[in-house]
Amino acid sequence: MSNAPLFSGEGFSIGLAPMAGFTDRAMRTLSLEQGACLAMTEVVNAAGLTHDSKRTFHLLETAKDEHPVAAHMYGIEPAVMAEAARRAEALGRFDFIDINSGCPVRKIVAKGAGAALMGDVPRLAAIVRAIREAVSLPVTVKTRIGLTPETCNIRELAAAVEDAGASCLFIHGRFACNKHSGPVDWELIGSIKQERSMPIWGNGSARTGVEAVQLQKTYGVDGVLIGRGAIGNPWIFREARAAWEGRESAPRSLDEMRATVEAHLRDLVGLKSLERKYRRAGALAAETAAVMVLRPHLLKYVGGLPGWREVRRQLNDMRTIDDVLLAVDSVISNVKSGAGRD
Ligand SMILES: Cc1cc2nc3c(=O)[nH]c(=O)nc-3n(C[C@H](O)[C@H](O)[C@H](O)COP(=O)(O)O)c2cc1C
Repeated sequence: MSNAPLFSGEGFSIGLAPMAGFTDRAMRTLSLEQGACLAMTEVVNAAGLTHDSKRTFHLLETAKDEHPVAAHMYGIEPAVMAEAARRAEALGRFDFIDINSGCPVRKIVAKGAGAALMGDVPRLAAIVRAIREAVSLPVTVKTRIGLTPETCNIRELAAAVEDAGASCLFIHGRFACNKHSGPVDWELIGSIKQERSMPIWGNGSARTGVEAVQLQKTYGVDGVLIGRGAIGNPWIFREARAAWEGRESAPRSLDEMRATVEAHLRDLVGLKSLERKYRRAGALAAETAAVMVLRPHLLKYVGGLPGWREVRRQLNDMRTIDDVLLAVDSVISNVKSGAGRD
């Protein structure tokens, strides 16, 4: 681990973007092991933390020695966000607090939180200030370039959160109205970087480690977050580190892929945040819940390899770790026997 400041871009600066339903402890651990420079939890409701909701605290479960990691939270009231940040800091496990100002999900936006904060920049700045006063951890903001092209206010937002004392701004280069598709405006992200003295990271559409490093260099940003490209592919960070150091990265081997699927599953089995799912899953409990959560990752782990469509067909019938590993083994034996790609 380098001693370069976390957000400054001086060291390797390609990290894991927060993704609800994905970036649990298991995915973050694998990403950090493969070289991600930082990670963030799934988004948590600040009010849940102030109300001592067990479920919310479970989403903040981290691995021993999991660093650097942010508690990523949404909310609307500065005082509630500040108290939530204080409680997250008190857990002694987080390296920074990140404010969600980009989530377009209706349930969150309807409360005035997530992406809705882009429409109320003074409130977002007040939240940054309140958290800064409440905790000693760095405070960062993850946002978009605006709610819509007509209301693009990322310049004003960046100036306001810098003034309020944010340590870094992570910008997903899409408008909230476009959710997760459509063009990513890296030019705009790069121009914000030129204007601000606070570190600015870009995010959106990096699908390989090489691409992430190229985006960082081309647009001069301090770092890049990778989201979907890391699902079922923690090696994207190994590739990025190699690219940053000017080396070729070792491709992941099939044995490594199998071992990673197994490690991923075994970590999921122990996650407290899956307890509700355990109850729904019934008799097979933790293991079945873990298999359910792994499904979208698994399709990416084996995607494109011969026989992966068969894995997709079997997905809903898998109940145990052995079921999953058997399916992975069949794909691996297809590769070894020289079967063509699907
Ligand atoms: C399933 C899913 C869940 C996401 N959840 C969050 C979230 O909770 N908070 C957030 O700031 N962004 C969230 N995002 C957005 C990602 O962090 C990222 O900005 C976006 O996926 C673009 O990056 P990518 O092209 O590398 O995936 C989510 C994205 C996806 C696909």
